[in-house]
Amino acid sequence: MILKQKHKSGAFPHLSAVENYPDLLVDPFFFNLRKKEFSRLDESNHTYLDFTGGGLYAESQLNTHFQQLQQSVLGNPHSTNPSSQLSTNRVDETRAKVLEYFNGTEDYECIFTSNASAALKIVGECYPFYDDGHMLMTYDNHNSVNGIREYCTSKGGSYEYCKLYMENLRADKDQLYRSLLKYPNKKNKLFAFPAQSNVSGVKHQLSDIKRAQDNGWDVLLDCAAYVPTNKLDLKEVSPEFASVSFYKIFGYPTGIGCLLVKKSVFHKLKKPWFAGGTVSFVSVNTGEHFLHNNHEKFENGTINYLDIPAVKIGLDWIDSIGIDKINKRVTELTGLMIEEMSSLKHSNGQCLVNVLGPKENTNRGGTIIFNLNTVEGKVDNYFEIEKAANNANISLRTGCFCNPGIDEIMSCVSNEESLRYYSFMEEHEYNYEKLVVLLGRMRGAIRVSLGYVTDLKDINNFIGFLRGYLK
Ligand SMILES: Cc1ncc(COP(=O)(O)O)c(C=O)c1O
Repeated sequence: MILKQKHKSGAFPHLSAVENYPDLLVDPFFFNLRKKEFSRLDESNHTYLDFTGGGLYAESQLNTHFQQLQQSVLGNPHSTNPSSQLSTNRVDETRAKVLEYFNGTEDYECIFTSNASAALKIVGECYPFYDDGHMLMTYDNHNSVNGIREYCTSKGGSYEYCKLYMENLRADKDQLYRSLLKYPNKKNKLFAFPAQSNVSGVKHQLSDIKRAQDNGWDVLLDCAAYVPTNKLDLKEVSPEFASVSFYKIFGYPTGIGCLLVKKSVFHKLKKPWFAGGTVSFVSVNTGEHFLHNNHEKFENGTINYLDIPAVKIGLDWIDSIGIDKINKRVTELTGLMIEEMSSLKHSNGQCLVNVLGPKENTNRGGTIIFNLNTVEGKVDNYFEIEKAANNANISLRTGCFCNPGIDEIMSCVSNEESLRYYSFMEEHEYNYEKLVVLLGRMRGAIRVSLGYVTDLKDINNFIGFLRGYLK
């Protein structure tokens, strides 16, 4: 109610389509949440639009965790002393919470890592590519997935990529399904894709997991950009491996992620070394060692036993709001943002904003990439736009977002151009502007990403900022 009154009195002067999203106007829940838990945003007049980069923590999460730390004597796990036991218990509780949260308690192991990249590295390092291995990826993948191809080829495996449709950046189904049917007799085939793109916001089809599995593939689902605003139910979709970074879901703590591994394929991961905490027996005399046969096998040395319990606090926090409610909220905010951006036109009718990837608000998340057009219809230089956004206290992101495949599709970069680029880089210090000259066009784009903390003020501020580019 409060919001509706404010709107009528002109609180969102830059928004023309807000009446199409009545829930955003009248629901006081997120309005109150923002005021109570995220007041730092409004106190510092900050428009935060980088939720795919990192989520924001609520004040309650910090208070609960600090109180726990203040009241507990926590020691290094791996011992029976009381401080060690308390840490072990808290970590165990958190692991149980993570598995319950993703509905994988019976069927999955949860390995704590330092982030999603470290989770993906375990798969790269330990998947048996050396034994008739092959890897299939979509062009839309974060570099921490792309990088697994180096493990694959160094162990004698091969890899291939599935292209995306230029117009919506979704996977080319014909090519994908042909690839999934290839190599029926290969022994170790890994298909890796993101549940949601960290660049275009596209939600890739999770039903392809089963299709791949039915054709003998193991599936690595990169969930880093998906789980902040979507429910991942491991009973409904059951990839062999799933990677997560927790700060992307609830902001605090940073430095913790996990790899979820289906128990039925746990034995497939061949760890090439051992470390403290990962073994039940090591002999210096004989050179023998036994690795643990559960998550401990991959948690090298001392785990982050002070911060891991804050992951339980974070997941409890998200549960207290409800992931479905978060999903609905972010979907509506995204619809409004795209509608407002698309309605901005220069005086000659030229659209200001060119939204790349899907323009419709279905099967997509709250990550939007775009370029700005000048009145003459040329792509504006996003370096300058980023600088101006920084000056306006707007946090957005520009560039290729560690996802070069999407950019190669969007910017129509040919193999020959990529190779020219690559040999230039081998000979020179990296210099983006020179590379742009070499290619004859800009690469990359501008990205804004929304979260459940985003509110109408943020969208209003951002659309107001964009209006400044209208001629
Ligand atoms: C889809 C996706 N995968 C993997 C990563 C890597 O996550 P981290 O940097 O936390 O290791 C990111 C980070 O932005 C991402 O968005």
